[in-house]
Parts: sequence; structure tokens; C-alpha cells
Amino acid sequence: MTEFKFDKWVELYAHRTASMKSSEIRDLLSVTARPDIISLAGGLPYTRLFRFEKVVEATEHAMQREGSAALQYGPSEGHKGLKKHIIKLMEEEGIKVDFDDILVTDGAQQALDLLSKIFINPGDKIIVEAPSYVGALNAFASYEANIVSIPLDKDGLQVDLLQEILEEFTKKGEVLKFIYLVPNFHNPAGVTLSLKRREHLLSLAREHGLIVVEDNAYGRLRFEGEDIKNLKAMDDSVIYVGTFSKIFSPGLRLGWVVAPKPILEKLIFAKQAANLCSSSFAQRVVEEYFTHNLWKRHIGKLVEIYRSRRDAMLQVLEEFFPDEVRWTKPQGGFFVWVALPEYVDTTEMLAEAISEKVAYVPGRGFFADASGKNYMRLAFCYPEEKVIYEGIKRLSKVVKRYIILYKSVAKKLHL
Ligand SMILES: Cc1ncc(COP(=O)(O)O)c(C=O)c1O
Repeated sequence: MTEFKFDKWVELYAHRTASMKSSEIRDLLSVTARPDIISLAGGLPYTRLFRFEKVVEATEHAMQREGSAALQYGPSEGHKGLKKHIIKLMEEEGIKVDFDDILVTDGAQQALDLLSKIFINPGDKIIVEAPSYVGALNAFASYEANIVSIPLDKDGLQVDLLQEILEEFTKKGEVLKFIYLVPNFHNPAGVTLSLKRREHLLSLAREHGLIVVEDNAYGRLRFEGEDIKNLKAMDDSVIYVGTFSKIFSPGLRLGWVVAPKPILEKLIFAKQAANLCSSSFAQRVVEEYFTHNLWKRHIGKLVEIYRSRRDAMLQVLEEFFPDEVRWTKPQGGFFVWVALPEYVDTTEMLAEAISEKVAYVPGRGFFADASGKNYMRLAFCYPEEKVIYEGIKRLSKVVKRYIILYKSVAKKLHL
């Protein structure tokens, strides 16, 4: 095909493309695919654990039982057989839902896109945590949202600050479209929202008429401690986003959203315009897998593996990282969030890390205002313990070198 070096269509694109950018994570993955680089960057679920013959079996069952429907268009709201399992999963989280409360989507990511599509006009204000899941920030930005960020700490979103902002906005008569948060085992911060803060958040949402969007991508991956009630289990008006990516497979691209009926209806219209329906084939494969397999045992094994990798990462960080550096201690999920001294720029430091053959995700991409330059996200979900050990050892060299260099320059310049 003819190569077009310059984009001569620049004048023709819609305004919203100006805020669309490739995620830093995806760009990085292309570099870190090199086998000599230890990647602590991408949050890839550990799909090697699968007994693939079980997936082949599920596919065979799906074809034998309902081959022609599996190869056909399906209802936009999703296949009932799959929804049966979603209902069970949600019941186990203390959330009672019915078939027509659920819309099956192409992963949680599509649910976030559809929510943006039905709620956000250019310039509309929404609230997110700082840091926040980069895919959500990209979805919101692509609909030209005006993103208000509220910092989190080790107990999740700082709800006191949310209260201040809500009071200020209510006083000014300004409308906030929704708040989006990842209460369990946050991406990228690894933290979990405390029960007290969940209660406070919901009472504020009720008082100010604020829609709460709860993204529970990692909720079933708890390594230790007691489960905390999901927001949706505490208040039925919450919009809940779920996914099969972290408990089964991201490759099949299936997730779901549960929302109050009028909102769900709009989401279904948006889904019809986006892609008519999610894959009938993939929905039936997941249905069969969940019907015939001990999927809970599979999640149990995943949790054991992730826990042991988290332990390895926390232990090596303790052993090799300098005292000035702090990090979170996640009770589940995929990520450790590292805070370096304020003068460190992790985007700048990445080139050096790559030359030492280790990669991480710089913090900046997780903040709507591109602050957070001194943070980095480390994923422990995919590499084995010995690889994590080596990766953190290499990274610690880079960090120490950066800090020593800064201190010696600062001393010379009397900073
Ligand atoms: C918090 C969060 N939400 C949603 C997603 C997207 O998941 P899915 O594969 O279901 O689209 C991710 C993926 O990493 C995530 O971390």
C-alpha cells in the first residue's frame, strides 16, 4: 500500500481526536516484547495457567449444542446463557440482579466507552481518582470530558476531599456527570477503598445526586484480609462494571455492566450503534467453560500465584530499593505503585531502565493532568518470582544511580 508520511487529512478530523492518544502502556508493550527485557510494565493476566484442552472442550460443546447460534448475530443486551453466570457471580458479591439488569460488553473497556458516550458532552465535568486507570481516562478524554481528579491514599479515594469539591460545585450550581472509581485493588495504585470511606462516598452521592460508576475488574483477586462490600451491594443505584478478563481470559473480550433500567436502556442503544452485539461465539464458549469447569478452583490457583509474586516483589523492593522510595502493599490485584522522591522523573528514567533491560510504566499517564511524574507502576501478575527478583534488582540500580546523580548535581548547584 502507498505509504503516507504526512497526515494530509488533519483539517478533516473531528475535534475529539485532538484528545485521543495512544496509551503509554500499549506503546511500551511494543518495546518490552523483546525477550531480553524484563517487563514489569503490562498488567497481563497469567493465561499460561489454563489447561487449554478445557477451553477446546468448551468450544466443542458450544458448537455441538448451539453451533448455528454461536456463528450468528445475537441480542445486543447479551446471551442469556452467559448472563446466568454473571448473575451467580454478582450474587456471590451480595448483589441481586436479573437478566434484564445486565448488558454484556466487549470487555469492561467497552462499558466505559458506552458510559462516556451516553453521559459526556464536550466540556462536561466528571470525577476520577488520581491516579486512575489509564484506559478509563482515555475513554473519558475521547468524549472531551473535563476531568476533575481527587487524590487517593493507602485507603483509596480521599472522600473528605470529594466532599469539599461536591459542596463547592453544588454552591456554584455546577453539574457533575459521574464519579468513576476502582474500589478494589486499584489499577495502578493497588489500594482498596475502606468500608468507612465507601459509606461516606455513598452518602455524599445520595446527598448531591451524583452517579457512582464502580469498576470491579480485580475484585475476585484477593490474597488476604476480609472482603469489603462492593458499592453496588450497598446502594442499588450504583453502576457496576465487571469483566471476565481477570478471572478467565482477556482474549475473549467479554465484560458487563449493570445499571438502573433507564440508564441500561441508553447503554443498549449505544451498544447497538457501536457493534450491534458482543461475539455470540465468545459468549457461548465462556458460558460452557463456566458450566462445566471448576472455575472457582482456577481463580483460587490464580490467586495463589499472584499472591506469591506479590510477596516476591515486596520482598525484593525492601531488599534493594533506597530508603527515599515508598510503595503500596496491595491485598489483591496486579500492581504495586511506587512513589519516588519528587525530583525523579520516571518518564525520563525509563530510557535508562530499558537500557538495563527492565521496564515499568511511568506514573504520568495515570493522571488526567499528567502530574505524578515521580511515580511508577510495577505489575507482578505475569513474570515468575525469579524474574521479578532480577527485574527489581536491575531497576534498583537505575533508581539509585538517578538519585545519586541528582544529589551530586543539587549539591554542586547549592539547591
Ligand atoms: C480497572 C480496569 N478496568 C477495566 C479494564 C479493561 O478490562 P477489559 O479487558 O475487561 O476491557 C482494565 C484492564 O486492565 C482495568 O485495569
